[in-house]
Amino acid sequence: MKLKNKTAIVTGAGSGNGRAIALKFFSEGANVVIADLNEEGAQETLRLAGAESNGLVIKMDVTKRDEVQRMIDETVRTFGTIDILVNNAGIVGFTPFLELGDKEWDQVHDVNLKGPFLCSQIAAKEMINAGNGGRIINITSVEAHVIVSSSGKCQPHYNSSKGGLNLLTKAIAIELAQYGITANNIAPGVVETPFTASGLSNPEAKRWVLDRLPVGRIGKPDDIANAALFLASDDSSYMTGSTVFVDGGWTAI
Ligand SMILES: NC(=O)c1ccc[n+]([C@@H]2O[C@H](COP(=O)([O-])OP(=O)(O)OC[C@H]3O[C@@H](n4cnc5c(N)ncnc54)[C@H](O)[C@@H]3O)[C@@H](O)[C@H]2O)c1
Repeated sequence: MKLKNKTAIVTGAGSGNGRAIALKFFSEGANVVIADLNEEGAQETLRLAGAESNGLVIKMDVTKRDEVQRMIDETVRTFGTIDILVNNAGIVGFTPFLELGDKEWDQVHDVNLKGPFLCSQIAAKEMINAGNGGRIINITSVEAHVIVSSSGKCQPHYNSSKGGLNLLTKAIAIELAQYGITANNIAPGVVETPFTASGLSNPEAKRWVLDRLPVGRIGKPDDIANAALFLASDDSSYMTGSTVFVDGGWTAI
């Protein structure tokens, strides 16, 4: 029960990594806000947790300041505090650089970079008011550090949004350290979620991925949730502005 009496918000918790993180936090005793654009997925996460009294589903869009503010206000009204924020909601696009239009560029940066900016800023103000410190965990990617070019396709906007988030985390970590708030990244490699399902359904693409993984298997959402639990708990109190790579060795090669 490493998160007993703690309240966590997990964005994008209606699917994949976010769902696994929310379920892990529930199992460690936390109150968990399951925030997602996809309300059905979020309700399913709550059902899987079987923990109605310490769960709250909020349908919201991380790119909209007023919706993020509403999420924070509802969380405080329901549970009294916010101790942990996991900025997990994310999207990807596969259009190569020379063909990439403004709309797709903006969409990817709005969700992957502006969303964590808004959620972190508004949650941090609440954490500072409460005076109990806090934890901000940002889900970046190995693609914040290296260019994977999945199946030969580049994702320049995904790379720049996650690379930007990597440095946003460090800036937040420095500015908020004085309040006892830490900020760290988890950089997943390839994880089996709806996000990667279409790519991994192609046996050639799956082989290509496996050939680059020293551990010999593709990641599972629970691998990411285990790292999130560590960063959310007191065990990581001496870490801030840092990145935990959960990538099966991808970036070690
Ligand atoms: N799956 C992987 O291999 C992998 C690898 C590296 C990083 N990641 C990162 O992990 C995170 C989660 O990815 P996943 O694989 O679980 O994807 P997923 O598509 O299964 O889940 C993403 C969730 O985010 C929600 N979401 C999207 N836009 C939103 C918005 N504007 N507001 C609120 N919610 C929104 C979706 O509704 C969905 O439930 C993402 O940030 C992704 O970039 C995933």
